[in-house]
Amino acid sequence: MKIKKDEGMSKEIQEFKTHSEKETFELGYRISQELKAGDTISLEGDLGTGKTALTKGIAAGLGISKPITSPTFTLVNSHAGRCVLHHFDVYRIDDSDELLEIGWEEYITDDAVCIVEWGDRILDILPENTIHIRLERDDKEADSRNIFIEREVL
Ligand SMILES: Nc1ncnc2c1ncn2[C@@H]1O[C@H](COP(=O)(O)OP(=O)(O)OP(=O)(O)O)[C@@H](O)[C@H]1O
Ligand SMILES: [Mg+2]
Repeated sequence: MKIKKDEGMSKEIQEFKTHSEKETFELGYRISQELKAGDTISLEGDLGTGKTALTKGIAAGLGISKPITSPTFTLVNSHAGRCVLHHFDVYRIDDSDELLEIGWEEYITDDAVCIVEWGDRILDILPENTIHIRLERDDKEADSRNIFIEREVL
C-alpha cells in the first residue's frame, strides 16, 4: 500500500492492487470498517473492473447478508445493515437530472452510506466530501486491478 498526501489540496490517495475478485471483495470489506453513516463513495472504472465486487465486500462489512446485484436498470437498491446502504448504478442515465428526478437528495442523508457505480457520470451532484475510488485493469495481468482511493483529509 502506498499513501500519498498532497498537503496543498488536502487529498489523500491510497493505492491497492488486487489479484482476484475475492481480493477486491476483501478490500471492500476493509473499507467498510472505516465508513460511517453519511459517507458517499463514487466508484469509477470501465466495465467489469470490479465496482460491484467491491460493493459486495463493503455491504458484507456493513452487516448486509442479502445478495447484492448491480441496480443497472432500477438505478438504486437499498439494503439495511449496520446502517442503510443505497447502492446506485448510473451507467444508463443521460445526465444528473435523471437522478434528481428520482429523489437523489433524499438518499444523501446522515444515516445512510451511498455507493454510486459510475459516479464520475454525476460529478456535479456528488457531495463535496465524496470518497472517489478508481478501479483500473492491469495491462499485464488479466485478473489484477489497481485501485485508488482518494479522499479529502483534514
Ligand atoms: N481483481 C479483480 N477484482 C474484481 N473483479 C475481478 C478481478 N479479476 C477478475 N475479475 C472479474 O471481473 C469481473 C468484475 O465484475 P463486476 O461486476 O464487479 O464489475 P463492474 O465494474 O461492477 O462492472 P459493470 O461496469 O458492468 O458494473 C468479474 O467477472 C470478476 O470475476
Ligand atoms: Mg457493476
